[in-house]
Amino acid sequence: MTSSLEPLPPALRSMWRLCKLGYRHEPGLMAAAFVLSLVAALPDALLALWLKLLGNGLIEHRATLVRVAAVGLGVSAAGSWLLDTVSARVQRRFRDKVTIALESHVARLQASVSTIAHHERPEYLDRLAMLRTQVFVLDHMYLSVFSTCAWILRLGVTIALLMAIHPALAALAVFALPTVLTSTWRPAIERRAQERGAQAMRLARHLFTTATTAPPGKEVRLTGIGPRLQTGRREKWEEWYGPVASARWGSAIWHTLAWTVFGGAYVGAVVFVAAWLGRPAGDVLLVLAAGSRLSAYIGATVGEIGFLRGFWMDGSRRLAWLEDYAASIAATADLPVPATLGRGIRFDGVSFAYPGTTRLVLEDVSLSLPAGAVIAIVGENGAGKTTLVKLLARMYEPSSGTILVDETPLGRMPADRWRSKLAGAFQDFFRFELIARHSVGVGEVAHMDDDAAVLAATDRAGAADVVARLPAGLDTQLGQTWPGGVEMSFGQWQKIALARGFMREQPLLLVLDEPTAALDAETEHALFERYAAASRGRTGITLLVSHRFSTVRMADLIVVLDGARLAEVGTHDELMARGGQYSQLYEIQAAAYR
Ligand SMILES: Nc1ncnc2c1ncn2[C@@H]1O[C@H](COP(=O)(O)OP(=O)(O)O)[C@@H](O)[C@H]1O
Ligand SMILES: [Mg+2]
Repeated sequence: MTSSLEPLPPALRSMWRLCKLGYRHEPGLMAAAFVLSLVAALPDALLALWLKLLGNGLIEHRATLVRVAAVGLGVSAAGSWLLDTVSARVQRRFRDKVTIALESHVARLQASVSTIAHHERPEYLDRLAMLRTQVFVLDHMYLSVFSTCAWILRLGVTIALLMAIHPALAALAVFALPTVLTSTWRPAIERRAQERGAQAMRLARHLFTTATTAPPGKEVRLTGIGPRLQTGRREKWEEWYGPVASARWGSAIWHTLAWTVFGGAYVGAVVFVAAWLGRPAGDVLLVLAAGSRLSAYIGATVGEIGFLRGFWMDGSRRLAWLEDYAASIAATADLPVPATLGRGIRFDGVSFAYPGTTRLVLEDVSLSLPAGAVIAIVGENGAGKTTLVKLLARMYEPSSGTILVDETPLGRMPADRWRSKLAGAFQDFFRFELIARHSVGVGEVAHMDDDAAVLAATDRAGAADVVARLPAGLDTQLGQTWPGGVEMSFGQWQKIALARGFMREQPLLLVLDEPTAALDAETEHALFERYAAASRGRTGITLLVSHRFSTVRMADLIVVLDGARLAEVGTHDELMARGGQYSQLYEIQAAAYR
């Protein structure tokens, strides 16, 4: 299997999808936040217009014009404060709500991906980890899009005002570009110079610490290296500071040049309007006010787009990828899960390597698990027993070959429907720190609060003694970090996990993957004997992984795995008669007990 990953979906489309997602969850708030941020941009941009009217009014002694301008200025100032405040509130509300919506969306998507391959492939993990951290900032993307639009609006209004005086004034925007470029470059160039000198700086700090702190003090005095430390530190500091200073100077010169260009153009524009076109003072005022804003607006627009392009664009692409990935997996599940098993489950040439690895953990396994049978899987550690169980639970898809349930490919059944027909307990079980009733009950959520069902499962698992010893019975909180919580031993937790596995009655497949390793051999034996007896005559399959041959021997069918391959299959008597691997292992264990 290669570790190449499908590329992330294209940026603009992903961002558009994210916008639609936000709109779907919060249409009203999103529209309000967007419109408000646009409207809030206007008073600022219109300032130049009011100044022009004011200037013309004063010079031409037109009282109405002055009044209009004064009102305009007042409304602009007050409106800009009001709109900023309201807009900030609305945006915060929108952000809070959309963050929750996005988080649940991502969580739902992750859970809907039926295999757990994406939890284990490093490249996927990276993508998901980034997404998990970025989902908190994806909401910024909306605000960033809004404010980009607002900056563009301000810029547009300003350029339109300038062009209303004379179209050639639009060229002022072009002259502002160098200032944008240099102000974007400056921090990057300085940071690079600092990074280059980081080693020298670290050494300088180290020398300073050595010369001034107590622990090295004795040796510094004894050896008399104090002065050397000082000169050394000075040298290193200069080694760091030299390039940084020249980078700062260099970038400052470029920055100054850029501003000189813009300043020249700005002055030129004013002269052009005042002297060349001979326009009234109001127009000159407009050019003065609008022109001075221009470079700030362009800078802000470019900066905001830079933000969008970096972090948030990336986040939206990851989210779009996860949506596609989840959808592509869901799309192939088109066949129903049978209600009962007729024939059983069949492995047909199944090979499997864990995602991102090449070593086959299962190799060309062909095997029939007849309906209604109790089947034991044995094999040394690492033989692939748990992997086989995980494939059956559809945690992974086989790399090649097929698993058939009553001759229907398992891969084409919806994973959640299939899993609702499974029950099981695992060696590496999880400790659900809930009240005891629920810690067992989550094995079948529908019956979580049904005490009869919970107690029956507890009985089947031989966990009745564990519950009986809890101070408040089924109401006891498990896990001592919780208020009133009790801690249990590993073995007790394991019994609770086992009981959880027995919550589903009559599953199509029950897997018991060394769930009783912490129990003694006799208890395990008794437990399985009881369980096997109860399950005979039903159509469900019981799959049992154990190292204890006393337990294994009572299975209807024993499957021996050896280094990824299927070594032997048969009943205890058949395998003993064969004198192969199983009989040898059995003899060794039996001898140890004699
Ligand atoms: N998530 C995983 N990623 C990569 N390799 C794994 C993973 N889980 C198990 N393996 C490897 O697969 C092999 C079989 O493991 P497993 O099925 O757990 O063995 P068993 O249950 O028989 O002891 C082992 O070599 C193990 O190292
Ligand atoms: Mg295992």
